[in-house]
Amino acid sequence: MAWKRLKDLDISGSRVLMRVDFNVPLNYSGEIADDTRIRSALPSIEHIVGSGASLVLMSHLGRPGGKKDPSLSMEVVAHKLGELTDYPVKFVDACVGEKVQKEVSDLKPGEMLLLENLRFYPGEKSNNPEFATRLAEWGDIYVNDAFGTAHRAHASTVGAPLHFSKKGAGFLLEKELSVLGSLLKDPERPFVAVLGGVKISGKIKLIENLINVVDRIIIGGAMAFTFFRAAGLETGNSIVDEQYLRMCRKLLDIRDSSGEKKIILPVDCVVADQVEGYSEFRTVSAGDIPEEWVGVDIGEKSVRIFADEISGAGTIFWNGPMGIFENEDFAEGTRGVARAIAGSDARKVVGGGDSVSALQAMHLAESIDHISTGGGASLTMLEGSVLPAVEALSE
Ligand code: ADP
Ligand code: 3PG
Ligand code: MG
Repeated sequence: MAWKRLKDLDISGSRVLMRVDFNVPLNYSGEIADDTRIRSALPSIEHIVGSGASLVLMSHLGRPGGKKDPSLSMEVVAHKLGELTDYPVKFVDACVGEKVQKEVSDLKPGEMLLLENLRFYPGEKSNNPEFATRLAEWGDIYVNDAFGTAHRAHASTVGAPLHFSKKGAGFLLEKELSVLGSLLKDPERPFVAVLGGVKISGKIKLIENLINVVDRIIIGGAMAFTFFRAAGLETGNSIVDEQYLRMCRKLLDIRDSSGEKKIILPVDCVVADQVEGYSEFRTVSAGDIPEEWVGVDIGEKSVRIFADEISGAGTIFWNGPMGIFENEDFAEGTRGVARAIAGSDARKVVGGGDSVSALQAMHLAESIDHISTGGGASLTMLEGSVLPAVEALSE
């Protein structure tokens, strides 16, 4: 480990600048729909202010595109943070400039100040050196606890830490790196990955890397149809990405030491005459998708086969729903797989995003050993790629 842990930094009496990922979902009226990411940063936050340091917090919220957007102000997050902790929380509606300078100088040990949305400034995403230098002025020690943003090389995650000799990883970042890292290093076997979702382009690198590590990869979601086509099956109007057919054929041929194929595909699927405004849907065998029809979920037989594989696993990693689960008619495959995962004795890790929403909607999240706070970041890590924000912490 080339980086320091927050626990090992001497922070008493200092001013700590910490990058967090408070990019929380907001509902239509602008309220926080899920405060998991804020609560997940509390251990680091309370450790810092509780150690007699003052704390300047910075995060992005949404994608305002480098300019001010009042509907994405961090103020609502400051408010929520104030409800979740007994320590005083201040807010300033800027990230750099005189106003921030004054608030930062007035900050006492045990107090924290949340800056405005970093992405109101174009220099955040472009990792502008001047913007990074100005952010770095707000602390003598830099801590990163923003796992969800660790795959982004931005001013607050990569530019700013270069200015610090004292820096380290917060408790959340440390835990995420340790849990996800252990999947790649010494997983309890059999290790079964369950992958779904819509775009194969975003997950092909993940599959290429995981296939060397896992015992089985179960594939559902729209991604399965590119594999179906690669295997020579009719796919109707289902989503297929022609660009990956050759790669999928290669992957389908990979076998374990006992000669079994590592990739398991659905044997049946739910098809509809169209996705929006469909008038009919039914379950068909994998080879029997009618022309013009669209695959929208995995079928019952597939759920049983997948559940069987899942029940024998020692480690499970799940990312991506098995069908268009936002629609009740096409949610059974995702539900069946979620139930099987929650009910297994394996060590269970779920990547962020829609898979987590599905688990939460079914009240099954409690039975998962680790739910990552990062969708993109967890996938980047399991692809075997370096996380730029973690690299920036090395001394
Ligand atoms: P996650 O957020 O868990 O990483 P993704 O973002 O990759 O998952 O994929 C989620 C999306 O995939 C969902 O919106 C779901 O509707 C869609 N999806 C799953 N199966 C299909 C399918 N057969 N056709 C179209 N979209 C699908
Ligand atoms: C996320 O929610 O995945 C992170 O906060 C990163 O956000 P981004 O995809 O807008 O960079
Ligand atoms: Mg998603």
